Amino acid sequence: MLDSFEAAQAILKDIETANPESKEALEQYRIQYLGTKNVLKPLFEHMKTIPNERKKEYGQLMNTLKQAAENKFNELKSQFEDQADSNKYADLDLSAPAALSDLGSRHPVSIVMNKIISIFQKIGFVVAEDREIEDDWHNFTAMNTPEDHPARDMQDTYYLMNSTEFLLRTHTSSVQSRVMMHQKPPIRIIAPGRVYRNETISARSHCQFHQVEGLYIDENVSFADLKQTLLYFAQEMYGASNIRLRPSYFPFTEPSAEMDVYLGTDTEKTYRLTKGTGWLEILGCGMVDPQVLENCGIDSTKYSGFAFGMGVERQALRLYNIGDIRLLFENDIRFLKQFESTY
Ligand code: PHE
Repeated sequence: MLDSFEAAQAILKDIETANPESKEALEQYRIQYLGTKNVLKPLFEHMKTIPNERKKEYGQLMNTLKQAAENKFNELKSQFEDQADSNKYADLDLSAPAALSDLGSRHPVSIVMNKIISIFQKIGFVVAEDREIEDDWHNFTAMNTPEDHPARDMQDTYYLMNSTEFLLRTHTSSVQSRVMMHQKPPIRIIAPGRVYRNETISARSHCQFHQVEGLYIDENVSFADLKQTLLYFAQEMYGASNIRLRPSYFPFTEPSAEMDVYLGTDTEKTYRLTKGTGWLEILGCGMVDPQVLENCGIDSTKYSGFAFGMGVERQALRLYNIGDIRLLFENDIRFLKQFESTY
């Protein structure tokens, strides 16, 4: 009988002094004192052997024991939880370099546009930029395309809110007129930027695209200067050895031409690009019509100049063998990720 009391006291002491140091040790503790085969169970069985007059005392002791085991376990458990919380950042190395965030890549339109820009910058052209919402005068009238001029049909225009005065620029020639209005020759600019035309969207055409236009005005600028500048561009951009200028028409240039570069038909790619002719059409150009100079306050008896303009998307489609212009405007990361370049 005395043994049972002593055994219970000894276990109570064990419970009170228990100090498990790991989660595993805590689990051992739980199994030992609270599990289905815990060490208290045999002591409860001893109740039968306790004389009646001490049964109550023994019962109380057993209750104390059970309670103590539970209390101690809960106390230890919450200690471990607190510790886990404060250990959460223990092995965080604050001096470690941050994880790299995903790097983007340049848009193919930007790559091609930057390449065009850098080619002209090498021979002294500077970039000029201006607004996309233009007035009719800078986009058309100054460019020798007054209202009702049939050439306006060449560029189907988005007018703003039914106004006849404001529109989304149809070409970056509007930047040319703005520069000529406030800058005296010599002028040597390229105007890259987004333009808009009211065209049905399809695989081959879009209602928005990018252009790079160029303008060179000084004394004695001749058609030979234009031709040599464009030949240089064709060599740098396409590695072409030859160019061809075909007569064309633009209201703001006279004479006007369209330039093809000679790529040959030696490779499958150049054969396909040039449809077997060896020639690829790239841009429109011409000598600035004296009327345009006069419209913008430049003395056409003293100065002359040339201008050219090209679309960027068409060139990007060809250079990267992309079959649908709409891909260039959808901004699908999986598509854009494929283009990496130093430009
Ligand atoms: N502005 C013309 C276009 O958008 C291109 C061009 C510019 C042609 C300059 C000749 C001279 O189609």
